[in-house]
Amino acid sequence: MASERRIELVPGGPSLSRLVFGAWRLLDGQKPSADAVAKLIYTAIDLGLTSFDHADIYGGYEVEEAFGAGLARFKGRRDSIELISKCGIMLKSANRPENRLKHYDTGAGHIVASVERSLKNLGTDYLDLLLIHRPDPLMDADETAAAFERLVADGKVRAVGVSNFTPQQFDLLASRLPFHLVTNQIEHSVLETSALTDGRFDHAQRLRYAPMIWSPLGGGSLFTGDGAREHKVRAALTLVAAEAGVHDIATVAIAWLLRHPARLVPVLGTMKPERLAQLVRAVDVTLDRQQWFSILEASEGRAVP
Ligand SMILES: NC(=O)c1ccc[n+]([C@@H]2O[C@H](COP(=O)([O-])OP(=O)(O)OC[C@H]3O[C@@H](n4cnc5c(N)ncnc54)[C@H](OP(=O)(O)O)[C@@H]3O)[C@@H](O)[C@H]2O)c1
Repeated sequence: MASERRIELVPGGPSLSRLVFGAWRLLDGQKPSADAVAKLIYTAIDLGLTSFDHADIYGGYEVEEAFGAGLARFKGRRDSIELISKCGIMLKSANRPENRLKHYDTGAGHIVASVERSLKNLGTDYLDLLLIHRPDPLMDADETAAAFERLVADGKVRAVGVSNFTPQQFDLLASRLPFHLVTNQIEHSVLETSALTDGRFDHAQRLRYAPMIWSPLGGGSLFTGDGAREHKVRAALTLVAAEAGVHDIATVAIAWLLRHPARLVPVLGTMKPERLAQLVRAVDVTLDRQQWFSILEASEGRAVP
């Protein structure tokens, strides 16, 4: 299963590259030139990472535009890549002075306006996938669904999904739509395993959608974390890496995600080409059950009951 290079999010539905490039950290550190962004995009594509994960808010509302400047230099076909974005979080930001506090908005007006801005910033006619970024306690499912339907009918969005939703929140929105929600993008890693047991992956298997996974390496804490859990997990990953003949623990941590039958789609967060090149090797690494459980045991601090 893991050695597939692409993955259908739902049977017969849209597909992404098996691993996705996450753009959140693009503007962390020194701001890259458009040429540097273009180079990074080509590097990702050469590695098979053709799907790019965005959100309107990344980089204080500035990542999409910076990425779009690089993408404008891309000479390949638009349909050889996939652009994903999200909306619904309203940040307090110099770029959004009207937001007096951080809040959520899943109303039709905001969703449509946010998509229009994402299209303009990315320099594209359509998003392959649009996600509601976080569950909104004021979400009116009929209204949010109607906005999704309109965007799909207008050809501005090819498919829709959610992020950080519970199964109940997912089911509510899905119940108002004539087409599938194709993913729920959630946090999961060797250091954050609650989705294994709180019903989110069971829900994904039941409905046959592939969950996208954010912070698949714990946002870097896998390498820098100094707690007992991080130390134990690193030790377990090191043992499995040696057994599997894999160079680094990060690749094993991604292979651990790919072993799950709910067909998890990790969204990689590094901006370093050499790290991306290592991580994509995870698709060729298949952990056996005992290797997989040895990492779970290290993470949970005890053997399974
Ligand atoms: N839906 C949501 O609510 C949500 C929330 C957060 C993120 N996301 C998405 O998920 C993507 C990934 O999140 P993330 O950035 O937290 O993912 P991650 O892959 O878990 O963490 C990436 C971080 O780990 C660091 N790192 C250190 N050593 C590394 C190594 N050996 N290999 C790889 N990375 C190493 C990276 O630094 P270097 O850059 O220096 O390598 C980077 O800062 C984001 O880009 C975004 O698209 C979604």
